[in-house]
Amino acid sequence: MREQRSPPAGAHGGHAPPRHVGVIMDGNGRWAATRGLPRIEGHRRGLEALRRTVRAAGDLGIEHLTVYSFSSENWRRPAQEVADLMGLLKRFIRNDLADLHRNGVRVRVIGSRDDLSSDIRTLLVEAEELTRANTNMTLHVAFNYGSRQEIAVAARRLAEDVVAGRIDPAEIDEKALEARLYTAGAPDPDLIIRTSGEERLSNFLLWQAAYSEFVFLPVHWPDFDASALAEALSIYMNRQRRFGGLGPAATAGNAMTGS
Ligand code: IPE
Ligand code: IPE
Ligand code: MG
Repeated sequence: MREQRSPPAGAHGGHAPPRHVGVIMDGNGRWAATRGLPRIEGHRRGLEALRRTVRAAGDLGIEHLTVYSFSSENWRRPAQEVADLMGLLKRFIRNDLADLHRNGVRVRVIGSRDDLSSDIRTLLVEAEELTRANTNMTLHVAFNYGSRQEIAVAARRLAEDVVAGRIDPAEIDEKALEARLYTAGAPDPDLIIRTSGEERLSNFLLWQAAYSEFVFLPVHWPDFDASALAEALSIYMNRQRRFGGLGPAATAGNAMTGS
């Protein structure tokens, strides 16, 4: 029997604020280029925008914030830029962890740890362990993250569980796969924001974004702030989410005719 999920609150009319917001933080390089600055300067300013955004999201009562910081494809960039981005992640954890913890933010890092250096892996574990019990907001940092890789790993885990006799192939359903994704336990993103004017997912949350609303803003990530977040949220609030069902007008019509 197929399990029917009821649409989340706010499915019709769209007036409930998003519980989970995903952000594709794009445009650091172009921000720097238009100012005649090196790309690293754009990434540094991007880190400041991230700090602002975490604070603003907390103020708005967003429960889950997922930020795309480094994709599994970003290794294709010049070695120096990759090294700079690794350095910024370290700086973020070292400088901001205590603050995040004080503000009740739980940190989770999603993505593959395989190619990361051992000092980064240690920092990531430290951040997750320290903040494990925090409940104000969860910050999911997508680092060395690629959604196809995530789904492939989930499929591999399912296969391992079948071989070990922990699950019967007939029991494999959406829930079983979802439980093996990096994002297990978090609600699907209601809203995904991408800055810089690009309109694509670039391998971000492919499975989880099945019914997400997308807002593409022209602003480059280093210029993103609380008012840009508020703008994206207000666009989201005016969207009508249907989840395959009927919109509010049709539903009201049915109620009136009793059909
Ligand atoms: C986003 O900015 C940061 C990362 C992808 C790591 P970019 O570095 O992609 O900036 P643009 O797209 O080149 O402007
Ligand atoms: C997506 O941005 C990854 C992050 C924001 C971390 P990219 O700049 O790497 O994406 P493409 O290459 O333009 O699709
Ligand atoms: Mg980019």
